[in-house]
Amino acid sequence: MNPFKYGKIVTGEHFYNRIDELKRILDTLEGGNNLVLYAPRRYGKTSLVKRAFEELEKKGFTTVYIDFMSIYSREVFIKNFSNAIVEKKSSSIEKTVKKVATLIRGIVPSVSFDNVGNPQFSFSWIEGNDKEATLEDVINLPEKFAASNNKWIIAFDEFQEITKLNGESFEKLLRSLVQNHKNVSYIFLGSRTHLLKDMFSNKNRAFYNSAMLMNIGAISINDSTEYLIRRFALDKIEISNEIAEYLIKMVDSIPYYIQFIAAEVWQQVINNNSSVKKSHINEAIKTVIELKADYFWELTLKQTNYRKKVLFALASSVTELFSRDTEKSYNIGPSSTTQKAIASFIDEGIIEQFGNSYEFSDPFFKMFLKANL
Ligand SMILES: Nc1ncnc2c1ncn2[C@@H]1O[C@H](COP(=O)(O)OP(=O)(O)OP(=O)(O)O)[C@@H](O)[C@H]1O
Ligand SMILES: [Mg+2]
Repeated sequence: MNPFKYGKIVTGEHFYNRIDELKRILDTLEGGNNLVLYAPRRYGKTSLVKRAFEELEKKGFTTVYIDFMSIYSREVFIKNFSNAIVEKKSSSIEKTVKKVATLIRGIVPSVSFDNVGNPQFSFSWIEGNDKEATLEDVINLPEKFAASNNKWIIAFDEFQEITKLNGESFEKLLRSLVQNHKNVSYIFLGSRTHLLKDMFSNKNRAFYNSAMLMNIGAISINDSTEYLIRRFALDKIEISNEIAEYLIKMVDSIPYYIQFIAAEVWQQVINNNSSVKKSHINEAIKTVIELKADYFWELTLKQTNYRKKVLFALASSVTELFSRDTEKSYNIGPSSTTQKAIASFIDEGIIEQFGNSYEFSDPFFKMFLKANL
């Protein structure tokens, strides 16, 4: 079986590193504080939080995970959140449902059965109900269930998406309620880093200053190298330090893409007992770019010509994007227009900003542009 996993949350032996980050998350949450964890896409936020939750559960905390990516209305939030909370109650579902009936206005909770006969929580709306009151009660539900000897920890993943629900009022309501929760801590995570940071560090936003901000970077080249060597060795495949580093650098150290390319390479070498060579990595990268080419073309062709030029300059790793030299070589004009283009690339998730420099979210898109523009 391929020892490299990508695309899903990784646990157990598939999860490596992140020791310091894990400690910091645990310390903050156990101390009863709230935390914001942000990082670009595919750096391993969700896996890290799930890993932290394993530890917290062992220590007697109750943990609940909610992904705002799949929540497109207040009603869906009410449904998913109440469901996730009820699932975590250790008492019988019938008992929990009775309790919930007394705690949430506007709904009639009940026990239904799924297609294999397992009991599950469901509810119907009371006609003419006040959704705002229901929402309030659902948000307060974990605090009602938690106790000082059984604190609850809630993760809101892709939290920046909350703003799409109903403007700022959801955000405000949530903030006004959770600040009174004594036995519940919250961890907010997300990949749209500038949106998330704004929610917590802009004075005019509801969540201003309400949580500690923590950013996770890529995993260090050394640690990833060591991991690759160890994992390939499980199948007696050799990969040298130098080749492992080459793989990692080609994908800008992004955890997801390291696994992705390693899995491709493993596929190539597993049946012919060879050691990993640079050519295997190049071949794997080529395959990935070919697979994604349609999408990359679409993404490129919908850009204006000016934006294409900016993309190309970025792909060519131009560091002085606003210099005269760049202006000359790439024919990109006044920097305010360039700045606007970059802002929208960031907004669309094509580019990530790291301090004063920029990097492609998808390293294969960068390689594609270099080869094709
Ligand atoms: N600590 C880790 N050990 C091994 N692989 C990892 C680790 N962190 C991330 N990965 C790789 O990255 C992939 C994405 O991880 P995860 O979904 O946790 O990241 P994310 O930051 O939440 O991504 P997204 O932005 O898509 O939500 C995993 O499937 C795995 O291949
Ligand atoms: Mg995630």
